[in-house]
Amino acid sequence: MAKYEIVTIDGDGIGPEVCQSTVEILRAACGAGMLSFIPCDGGASHYLKSGSVLPEDTFEACKAADAILHGAAGLPGVTYPDGTEVGNDLHLILRFKLDLYANMRPIRLYAGVESPLRHWRPGQIDYVIVRENTEGLYASRGGGIVLRDELATDTIVVTRKGIERVARFAFELSRRRKGAPRDGRRRVTVCDKANILRSYAFFRSVCDDVSGSYDDVEIDYAYADAITVHMLKRPDFYDVIVAENMFGDIISDLGAGTVGGMGVSPSAELGDRHGLFQGAHGSAPDIAGQNAASPVATVLSGALMLRWLADKHTDAGLAAAADRVERAVEHVLSNKLAVPRDLGGTASCTEMTSAICRALTSD
Ligand code: IPM
Ligand code: MN
Repeated sequence: MAKYEIVTIDGDGIGPEVCQSTVEILRAACGAGMLSFIPCDGGASHYLKSGSVLPEDTFEACKAADAILHGAAGLPGVTYPDGTEVGNDLHLILRFKLDLYANMRPIRLYAGVESPLRHWRPGQIDYVIVRENTEGLYASRGGGIVLRDELATDTIVVTRKGIERVARFAFELSRRRKGAPRDGRRRVTVCDKANILRSYAFFRSVCDDVSGSYDDVEIDYAYADAITVHMLKRPDFYDVIVAENMFGDIISDLGAGTVGGMGVSPSAELGDRHGLFQGAHGSAPDIAGQNAASPVATVLSGALMLRWLADKHTDAGLAAAADRVERAVEHVLSNKLAVPRDLGGTASCTEMTSAICRALTSD
């Protein structure tokens, strides 16, 4: 019996390729007896076959598992009658029902990866976006109004409980980091539109309340429009950014773009009991099944999973394995031992996987 049971949901498009690549790498990093993987169904292609995007047995397995590793979900054209995409419900149901309230998205420029922002070097862009993941504008998913084909509304919902816990997560995270690259100061930047909407003024005020317990962490504010410019012109200023769901969704893709794209952008979707780990990218159906996808974002998400489990269970061996996986990815990228296509190279998914596994064995 392995120490930790991980549910894997390959999903759609490139999901199976990047998920299985990550399983192979995690197995190599952790050795026998540490992790057992339980493959489960879910996603848009499963919905087409079965009518269910997240089968009950998959959900029950996710609830019982130590963590969930996911490839990607969603296929264009697989939509509900209201026009929204089916595949997205795989994530959204898991987020809401497992209460995965903090969507942690590291934005880090790795050696060997070219940033589209000129002059910025590895080490100078290294922050984390913490996206509130269970309310905000997403609370209206499936609940908006469409009236007589003339009017549609969706409502933003922000609660004191929801903001307090994600803000506390952000301040605690900043405490564990070494501060912003620019000045080494621990800083949580609240991203909102408090100047315009009461809901965001409320979001900011609750973050202010939480900051009162963290004298060692500076609180900073940026409107959601302004921060898009700051993320391009002074990315080294940021340590941790906390944002409402929809704003977090948008700025995390911009952040990923500044460090090489969605192919190097991991995510950890965390609640008090459960964790879902997946690359922040989508299912890229246009390159599915061609062995062309980069597994890097999912592999880095796998490292986040090991580290989360290690912290939760005070497991030094698992923490060391997380370090080994991250070092192996950095070694491959910085020495260009294999360069994935999204970073300008020609390496296939399997070639990236083999290169990272080789780096693991030489670590
Ligand atoms: C993300 C994605 C999801 C979101 C979709 C796939 C539901 O864009 O995780 O960033 O909108 O949150
Ligand atoms: Mn998104």
